Amino acid sequence: MYSIVAALLLGGLATASGVPYEDYILAPKSRELLPASVHSVNGSVTNARALIQSAGGTTLNGVSSVTYDFGKNIAGLVSLDVGSASSPSAFLGVTFSESSLFIRHEASDGTSDAGLDSPLWFPVGRGTGHYASEKKHLRGGLRYLTLVSNTTATIPVRHLHVNFTAAPTQDLGRYTGYFHSDDELLNKIWYAGAYTNQLCTIDPTQGNSLVHLGSITSDDDIHLPQTDTWWSNTTIGNGSSIITDGAKRDRLVWPGDMSIALESIAVSTGDLYSVQNTLESLLDLQKSDGRLPYAERPFRDSVSFTYHLHSLIGVSYLYLFSGDRSWLSRHWSQYKRAVRWALLSVDKTGLANITACSDWLRFGMGGHNIEANAILYFVLQDAQKLAEQLNDTSSAESWKRTAAKIKSVANQKLWDNQAGLYRDNETTTLYPQDGNAWAIKANLTLSARQSNTVSSALQSRWGKYGAPAPEVGKTISPFIGGFELQAHYLAGRSETALDLIRLQWGFMLEDSRMTQSTFIEGYSTDGSIHYAPYTNDPRISHAHGWSTGPTSALTFYAAGIQLTGPAGVTWRIAPQPGNLTIVDAGFLTSRGNFSTSFQRSARGGYNQFSFQTPAGTTGEVYLSGASGTLVSRDGKEIKLMAGRASGLHGDAWELHTQ
Ligand SMILES: *[C@@H]1O[C@H](CO)[C@@H](O)[C@H](O)[C@H]1NC(C)=O
Ligand SMILES: *[C@@H]1O[C@H](CO)[C@@H](O)[C@H](O)[C@H]1NC(C)=O
Ligand SMILES: *[C@@H]1O[C@H](CO)[C@@H](O)[C@H](O)[C@H]1NC(C)=O
Ligand SMILES: *[C@@H]1O[C@H](CO)[C@@H](O)[C@H](O)[C@H]1NC(C)=O
Ligand SMILES: *[C@@H]1O[C@H](CO)[C@@H](O)[C@H](O)[C@H]1NC(C)=O
Ligand SMILES: *[C@@H]1O[C@H](CO)[C@@H](O)[C@H](O)[C@H]1NC(C)=O
Ligand SMILES: *[C@@H]1O[C@H](CO)[C@@H](O)[C@H](O)[C@H]1NC(C)=O
Ligand SMILES: *[C@@H]1O[C@H](CO)[C@@H](O)[C@H](O)[C@H]1NC(C)=O
Ligand SMILES: *[C@@H]1O[C@H](CO)[C@@H](O)[C@H](O)[C@H]1NC(C)=O
Ligand SMILES: *[C@@H]1O[C@H](CO)[C@@H](O)[C@H](O)[C@H]1NC(C)=O
Ligand SMILES: *[C@@H]1O[C@H](CO)[C@@H](O)[C@H](O)[C@H]1NC(C)=O
Repeated sequence: MYSIVAALLLGGLATASGVPYEDYILAPKSRELLPASVHSVNGSVTNARALIQSAGGTTLNGVSSVTYDFGKNIAGLVSLDVGSASSPSAFLGVTFSESSLFIRHEASDGTSDAGLDSPLWFPVGRGTGHYASEKKHLRGGLRYLTLVSNTTATIPVRHLHVNFTAAPTQDLGRYTGYFHSDDELLNKIWYAGAYTNQLCTIDPTQGNSLVHLGSITSDDDIHLPQTDTWWSNTTIGNGSSIITDGAKRDRLVWPGDMSIALESIAVSTGDLYSVQNTLESLLDLQKSDGRLPYAERPFRDSVSFTYHLHSLIGVSYLYLFSGDRSWLSRHWSQYKRAVRWALLSVDKTGLANITACSDWLRFGMGGHNIEANAILYFVLQDAQKLAEQLNDTSSAESWKRTAAKIKSVANQKLWDNQAGLYRDNETTTLYPQDGNAWAIKANLTLSARQSNTVSSALQSRWGKYGAPAPEVGKTISPFIGGFELQAHYLAGRSETALDLIRLQWGFMLEDSRMTQSTFIEGYSTDGSIHYAPYTNDPRISHAHGWSTGPTSALTFYAAGIQLTGPAGVTWRIAPQPGNLTIVDAGFLTSRGNFSTSFQRSARGGYNQFSFQTPAGTTGEVYLSGASGTLVSRDGKEIKLMAGRASGLHGDAWELHTQ
């Protein structure tokens, strides 16, 4: 049996580069990208396909345009080699779009609230040669690129490429994590999530300019003016790479997005360098009273209770994956001050009363809100664990008491047994997606049965395009959907979790208005590309880190690889495969590789099961429904009792069923 399992594993590992399943990786192999195909031509364009092969040349004859398709969402600087145009007044324009919906020769899709972005115009009538976009005109998200000629001139174009700029410090294809299963859609979704986060990883000197901030807002009724103010030239952090929430728009740091993106980065590219820079840019803005910012500069600061807490979640997640105790120590007093600030909102009832509405653009964030209280409860659990790591438990007892009170009062005041869901606050019958998903994630629920009830109630609200977030109108939020996904797994409902990925992220990956490579920030419950808080649809980002929840969820739950101590010094292997019959996944931490690999029978038993954890670590296994003996490479044997085994040392292990 050992050899069969090894063969299954090797199937994934046996590539020239040593990167398992590298054919699924969407990141380009080279940073110089040619278009993949011609999308459409308008007017007279000779030999449009030449620019795909970079052979011969393409000629625009008079007023005309040609749209190229890069086959996936990409980011970068445009570079053109132009021959001798027939007139000195010739111009060549370039427009961009992430979605096929917003391909226009007149303008690009939007990077700000202010309508559409003007084309880049190159004065090619000045002569033969090389024309390239300036650094400030880096385009962070584009699948379609249109070349447009606005005069009667004839313009020969010999070469067109985009210089791929995302994830500037990464060796793009060298993922340290992988995921494979017998469900091709899930495999593609895992890799699209990983790639989405790569596109959202940028040079910190190339953040959005946000020049319209404060003058035009996302809910103004605008008439799609063109603006030429779409610059990527704001410095948003230190170091050479940073995580932003969006690739095209919102090229700046938002702490909420990190609560999804960080884990998916950790299990795929493993780019914790960029994560650390990002968190430091937020910690750097802490106020003297302990409060952390709503977002990184240049966004104007405002008070956000939940986003304040998301920065703290980022600190504990980074420590879990990096195991870097000296980094944690360095920021520990900041962390404690931030917890203290959050606890100022806890009133005599025992719940936090939220008086600052800023959140992930949901409505009604105020009072004894369930989402805010669940996240606070989650952070207080983290805080106790971190305190233990640093031997600074002076506040831990009081955090524990406060947390226990939040849990009991939230269940008294906000639980609605009839609905099987928590209310948003005491004065409403709105049952939000965010607060209910977080209640399970934070373990604010009182029993497994209650978690199951919430999970079922959330599932019963799904529509044709995914799980709704009624707290923000008729909206599907892939951000909050990521937490709902985790909640179904935590409630032990793995088939529901897989069904949500297939339904919602399947739509987000495969619909023709999407990029087939990166995940959109939000859309409407009727499937239209409209995200409720914004009136300007072309500004919607089609590559948003907060929409990448399935990548980490499939690794942690379907494959069952969970770190329970820093960098995996302790771990739990607990697959919840749903109806998957083959899973092969892993990722690397500073302690080494973690992986699981299994095959199940149609009836649900394990035909083969093996896993690997690094030497010097310890952990436990829970294989629901399985029996047999776990045997390590160095010859230890541990019998599963009711599917469980504990006290295992890090090694290669496999299940012997007889
Ligand atoms: C083609 O170009 C003409 C002239 O610029 C314009 O009026 C028309 O809308 C364009 N058609 C498409 C499909 O872009
Ligand atoms: C073409 O576009 C350029 C850049 O916007 C502009 O300066 C020029 O006047 C336009 N030419 C025509 C004929 O519209
Ligand atoms: C891509 O852009 C970078 C940064 O501007 C530059 O150093 C590099 O030479 C460019 N490469 C190509 C192939 O254009
Ligand atoms: C960004 O570029 C624009 C246009 O060149 C310029 O006006 C602006 O000052 C630049 N912003 C920064 C922060 O450099
Ligand atoms: C960069 O680091 C310096 C020194 O720590 C700090 O003062 C500055 O605020 C940082 N800048 C950003 C944008 O984080
Ligand atoms: C209570 O929740 C409802 C529904 O989300 C919301 O309309 C209302 O504003 C909330 N109350 C406060 C004080 O925020
Ligand atoms: C929350 O605090 C505000 C401001 O002090 C107050 O007006 C409101 O009544 C409080 N809400 C609850 C539910 O206690
Ligand atoms: C915390 O205390 C334990 C036991 O005294 C010790 O082994 C460990 O090194 C200490 N950790 C730190 C970060 O001081
Ligand atoms: C969740 O809370 C229950 C009590 O309500 C407790 O028994 C259980 O251990 C908690 N689970 C975790 C993972 O902390
Ligand atoms: C798992 O269930 C989904 C539908 O819920 C189905 O499409 C898929 O084929 C099933 N996979 C296997 C391996 O049975
Ligand atoms: C982790 O596994 C990869 C293959 O997936 C291998 O190339 C690499 O050397 C391993 N790293 C360590 C530290 O074991």
